[in-house]
Parts: sequence; structure tokens; C-alpha cells
Amino acid sequence: MDKVPEHVAIIMDGNGRWAKARGMPRTYGHTEGAKRVADVTRAAGELGIKYVTVYAFSTENWSRAEEEVGALMKLFRGYLKTCTRDADENNMRIRIIGDRTRLDKDIQEAMSKVEAHTASYNRVTLTLAINYGGRDELTRAVKRLAGDVRNGALSEEDITSETISSYLDAPDIPDPDLMIRTCGEQRISNFLLWQLAYTELYFTDVAWPDFGAEELRRAVEAYGNRDRRFGGVKQ
Ligand code: FPP
Repeated sequence: MDKVPEHVAIIMDGNGRWAKARGMPRTYGHTEGAKRVADVTRAAGELGIKYVTVYAFSTENWSRAEEEVGALMKLFRGYLKTCTRDADENNMRIRIIGDRTRLDKDIQEAMSKVEAHTASYNRVTLTLAINYGGRDELTRAVKRLAGDVRNGALSEEDITSETISSYLDAPDIPDPDLMIRTCGEQRISNFLLWQLAYTELYFTDVAWPDFGAEELRRAVEAYGNRDRRFGGVKQ
């Protein structure tokens, strides 16, 4: 393929609708959707994509039914337990962004363990956005930045957009080149608000549980046919 994005961010939408269309509970859609994370990350590695970031649980998702939130947490627990094998086999680094403090202690511990275990892997980096919101990330960043101004570590005059980027959850990961949202909706939904400033957006009607290697290839191909512009400058 001609032009491959370095970083692909994905809003994995449509699990609930996909399950409902099959007469199944919403949680079945999440279970099937969770399986696609490994498939798509593997396919991304094969295409030469270096970073994949998936929106697994938003700061707004707590308002869903308790049963659904519980099922998603159970899926995260299961994924964090089993993903190291996949990571070992695929030289895959796993990172997590979002506010972990609201998650159960055992999930927070599993997250730290997986990040440490995969820290030296570098073929592809999978970042899971869990209890993540773009506004929440910026709010947390601004609080830390304000603290550093107050204690003298940072002076107000030296603040640039790079300074702000450096306070975000994963400052070393480049901004996404391509953002994919599945299942028809065309919204950002509080995902990576700062980082998506110049990202190409790709929307597909395919629901996340049906999204696989072939769908990813199609999105990357569409990206390859676009002229990217950064503030009016063609790349
Ligand atoms: C949106 O679909 C999807 C979510 C809110 C959760 C995404 C989670 C997964 C794909 C599984 C867990 C991931 C990992 C990393 C193990 P929706 O339920 O809002 O769909 P709907 O719009 O059709 O209701």
C-alpha cells in the first residue's frame, strides 16, 4: 500500500445495535467487539501501522445500565489477563489512557502490570482508552500545568501548544493520522479532542463486531487517496 498512516484511532461503535439485530443482549455485542481489538491490531501491524488507539470506555459510559458497565469491566479484566500472550507473539506494546482512579483497584493493577510487561515491545503499540474523555484529559492536564506554574517549574510565558501536548496522557505517541468510526455515526464524541486537530476522518456503516482486517485495509486505502493538509499546507 502507498501511504500507510502511522497512527490509527478507532471509535468502536455499534456493538449494541449489532447484538440487537441478532436478538441478543447488548453485552454480547461487546464480547464480540472485544475480539475484534486483537484482530484489527494484528492486521494493523501487518500493514505497517505503528500505533492503534481504541475508545473502549468513555467518561460518559458510566451512565449506562449497571449490568452493561459491569459486563464491560469484566471484559477489560479478561482482556488484560490474556493480552500478554498476544503481545508476546506480536511484539505489541500496550498502553492505557484515561483516568484510572475511578476503576477498581484490581483493574488498575492489571493495567500497570500489562504496561510494564510490554514496555519494550515496538512493532505496534495498542493504546486502550478506558474511562477516557478528551475534555477530562485536558482538564487533568491543565490542573497539572497550573500546579507547575504555581510551584515555579513552568513559567506562563513559556507555554506553547507543545507544552500542553506534553501534559496529556500519552505525550510521546504521535497524533493520529486517521480516525475511524464504525456503524454510521459521524461524531468525535469527546475522543482525543486535542490530538485529532489535523486527523483524516473515516466513517463506515459497518458495525464494530463486523470490522476486520479487510475493513481496516479499505480505510487505509481511502486514507492513501486523500491529500492531507495541515493548516492549508499540502503534505
Ligand atoms: C460502542 O458501542 C462501544 C462501546 C461503548 C464499548 C467498546 C468496547 C468494546 C469494543 C469491548 C471491550 C474492549 C476491550 C479492549 C476488551 P455501543 O454499545 O454504543 O453500540 P450502539 O451505539 O449500537 O448501542
